[in-house]
Amino acid sequence: MSIPFHKTHTTQEEIDSAIEAIKSGWLTMGPKTVEFENKFKEYIGSDEAVSLNSATAALHLALKAIGLQRDDEVIVPTNTFVATAEVVTYFDAIPVLCDIEENTHNIDISKIEALITDKTKAIIPVHFAGQPCDMDEIYKIAKKYNLKVIEDSAHAIPSTYKGVKMGALEKTDITCFSFYATKTLSTGEGGMATTNSETYAKSIKVNRLHGISKDAWDRYTTKGAWHYDIIDNGNKYNTTDINSAIGMVQLKKQDMLREKRVIIAQKYVEAFRDKSKIVLPFLKNDRTTSWHLFVIKIDNRDNIIEELKNRGIGCSVHFIPIHKHTYYKKKYGYKNEDYPVANRVFEKSLSLPIYPDMTDKEVEFVIKNILELVDNV
Ligand SMILES: Cc1ncc(COP(=O)(O)O)c(C=O)c1O
Repeated sequence: MSIPFHKTHTTQEEIDSAIEAIKSGWLTMGPKTVEFENKFKEYIGSDEAVSLNSATAALHLALKAIGLQRDDEVIVPTNTFVATAEVVTYFDAIPVLCDIEENTHNIDISKIEALITDKTKAIIPVHFAGQPCDMDEIYKIAKKYNLKVIEDSAHAIPSTYKGVKMGALEKTDITCFSFYATKTLSTGEGGMATTNSETYAKSIKVNRLHGISKDAWDRYTTKGAWHYDIIDNGNKYNTTDINSAIGMVQLKKQDMLREKRVIIAQKYVEAFRDKSKIVLPFLKNDRTTSWHLFVIKIDNRDNIIEELKNRGIGCSVHFIPIHKHTYYKKKYGYKNEDYPVANRVFEKSLSLPIYPDMTDKEVEFVIKNILELVDNV
């Protein structure tokens, strides 16, 4: 049996929708993208949704919208994908890394205040594996020090915090989602920024297309005019109507797809619950996770991954902490000993396959092999 770490859920419906977009005669950002944005904000419950070609682009333009400047500081958990810290460097600003909680692997809110200086402008909590961070505590800190909050919600569709979907929390400035190939909603590549601020949404919209005062689509319709003005130094971060057509089909299925991941997660929990050698994911009870990832902690992680690979099971590790990467270590001087929890978590973490189209047999095969290996490797 061969079980990849991830397989995107795609059906004839996604294919038909993409073909329809291709046949429409307008392939890049246009009416389908506007429709996708409208449906996305309706699903999430935010006032605004702006589509982009990645979460990285969304995070970049979110920081631009809040006015980040050179030498400013932004607090980011060290347990994240590089994009969360990288976008801060686009401004010649400084990503200040925070250690994480041992149980959830999310940013440790008790360690944030010690990192705040006169230069701190924002916090980017990352909802690791789909589980929301302690947002109320983050808002308290943000209010006390006048900081902006930008959520990295790349893993959190759909996840909820105290009954509210991520992307709709009122006290957050901007929330960023990823539609990358392995994500719970995938368009191949893509992203979305949600916000309740018209000003932020406008800034992101203008900057996703070179800083042009209107969308290219407007310029080429019979209603539009050829004239445009550049009102900011923007980027080329727009998505295409082909991606948006796929995204709309995926969006409709989000709750159903999550249910399928919940069932797989329950099977893993059931199978490993009594195994003292396996630490299961820890969930706080006032929030729900998308189950984008299912991360266990075990000894001998590297050997077990290798052996799982030999047996046809693809696994992964989330994440190699930012402070361990050569460029970031050299440039910002992060010290390994400042992140003891992230280091411990990293040594043992193993992400198991969890995707909607996994069959019962495949889940059982993963369980059987993990149980064998934890006792024998
Ligand atoms: C936590 C986190 N943030 C940001 C990103 C970047 O997403 P994208 O590939 O859409 O730019 C990822 C992607 O893996 C991620 O896991």
